[in-house]
Amino acid sequence: QEDIFKNVISHAKEYGFIFPSSEIYDGLSAVYDYAQNGVELKKNIREYWWRAMVQMHENIVGLDAAILMHPTTWKASGHVDAFNDPLIDNKDSKKRYRADVLIEDYAEKLNQKAEKEIEKARARFGEAFDEQQYRTTNPRVMEYLSKKKEILERMAKSLDSGDLDDVKALIEELEIACPESGSKNWTEVRQFNLMFGTKLGASAENAMDLYLRPETAQGIFVNFLNVQKTGRMKIPFGIAQTGKAFRNEIVARQFIFRMREFEQMEMQFFVKPGEEIKWYEYWKETRLKWHQSLGLGNENYRFHDHEKLAHYANAAADIEFNFPFGFKELEGIHSRTDFDLKAHEQYSGKKLQYFDTEENKNYVPYVVETSVGLDRMFLAVFSKSLVEETLEDGTTRTVLRLPSVLAPTKAAVLPLVKKDGLPEIAKQIIDDLKWEFNVTYDEKDAVGRRYRRQDALGTPFCITVDHQTIEDQTVTLRHRDSMMQDRVKIDALRDIINENVSV
Ligand code: GAP
Repeated sequence: QEDIFKNVISHAKEYGFIFPSSEIYDGLSAVYDYAQNGVELKKNIREYWWRAMVQMHENIVGLDAAILMHPTTWKASGHVDAFNDPLIDNKDSKKRYRADVLIEDYAEKLNQKAEKEIEKARARFGEAFDEQQYRTTNPRVMEYLSKKKEILERMAKSLDSGDLDDVKALIEELEIACPESGSKNWTEVRQFNLMFGTKLGASAENAMDLYLRPETAQGIFVNFLNVQKTGRMKIPFGIAQTGKAFRNEIVARQFIFRMREFEQMEMQFFVKPGEEIKWYEYWKETRLKWHQSLGLGNENYRFHDHEKLAHYANAAADIEFNFPFGFKELEGIHSRTDFDLKAHEQYSGKKLQYFDTEENKNYVPYVVETSVGLDRMFLAVFSKSLVEETLEDGTTRTVLRLPSVLAPTKAAVLPLVKKDGLPEIAKQIIDDLKWEFNVTYDEKDAVGRRYRRQDALGTPFCITVDHQTIEDQTVTLRHRDSMMQDRVKIDALRDIINENVSV
């Protein structure tokens, strides 16, 4: 699995999808740049989301609120006081950890010990081995697994109650249980606020402390009444937005899964109080279906219902995806009650109420939110599409089986040779198609190698111009996934591609 993930990262770099930020200065941790192909894939994911959420719903409209907001926004939302991660430093290694992640790593070590025992037993007993029974009867396996469960439960409890001394004690206890992991010289556990600060204003005494937004949602809440009134929106209705968010994450690993600067695609759905759970269920199902429509395999998604709820929520679930490092959160669906709008009313002194003409009364609507990370979607799509195939003749090829609708380039036009007027015909085909799709031209190397390069870039079609083209205006159309080749008329290309790359 680690190898698959490494492969994803190096493929993304080698084929111009993602570069580390400011690489010539050795990069900036957990910050990345989208390169020539990455920017297209990312844009296509964003548009695929926007079409499903805004274009396809008459009662959902878009918004593009500023990244910088009045600082009181973050007081009202709870981020100034509660958007923290617990942090601990190791005095010997000078390494900094998120305390809960460190504990989860230890728990994983116990899990690995249990798995090792199971593997040993499987080798010993052969076909007769019953893994389920072994897990629940072997004392050593049971001890590792119950210890794991116990420490995770203790951690959740201590973090919940804010008992950071207990979190530290747990880490020290775990070091004794897993002695191979190094030193015991830890600092206290501290709360660390994840918001990035900045300043507005030129002179030091007048400067105003601001934050870079840690979520796009608050831009929607503060504009709720503006949009509702000017758009004459009737409840239930939604406001959707995509845009950058910033978090000073302590644990910066796993490539673009957890970044310090990332993009969110969020939608706030305003409903009548009492109807929020119905809509929460609706959006859970609708969002899962949207993900599954990409065809990456339904088995790669699952719900994780939250037992422990954030201060603003009365129901919450994640849609998890099977990333190269296991099932992890891809999207969150939260029933946020009237917490945010009420808090903004209180801090701003302005009413944020809706007049319901049917009920003839004012109320603060409840909110159901869907929130997905664009970069995480990118990683999900990219990592699941990247496959190494063994062909019938025993050779292998690397192919990026992106859903065609998301592919950065829809077709590559390739003259078989660089002479006899073939490049000119190829360029004419590009001039015809480029109004509708991203198409690219390539004349370097043998045509077989050019096919493989387009496979690795995820291009669904290659169009090859050869000498027969001069005679009968036909070209070879090669399909990325099946590698099948058809002979088609140049005039038919647009319709064939269209049929394949549209939603
Ligand atoms: N408005 C709700 C909200 O922000 P969240 O669970 O903190 O909820 C929503 O974030 C989504 O944003 C996550 O499911 C994830 O896809 C993405 N996300 C959050 N933090 C991220 C990070 N540091 N890097 C990349 N994506 C992130």
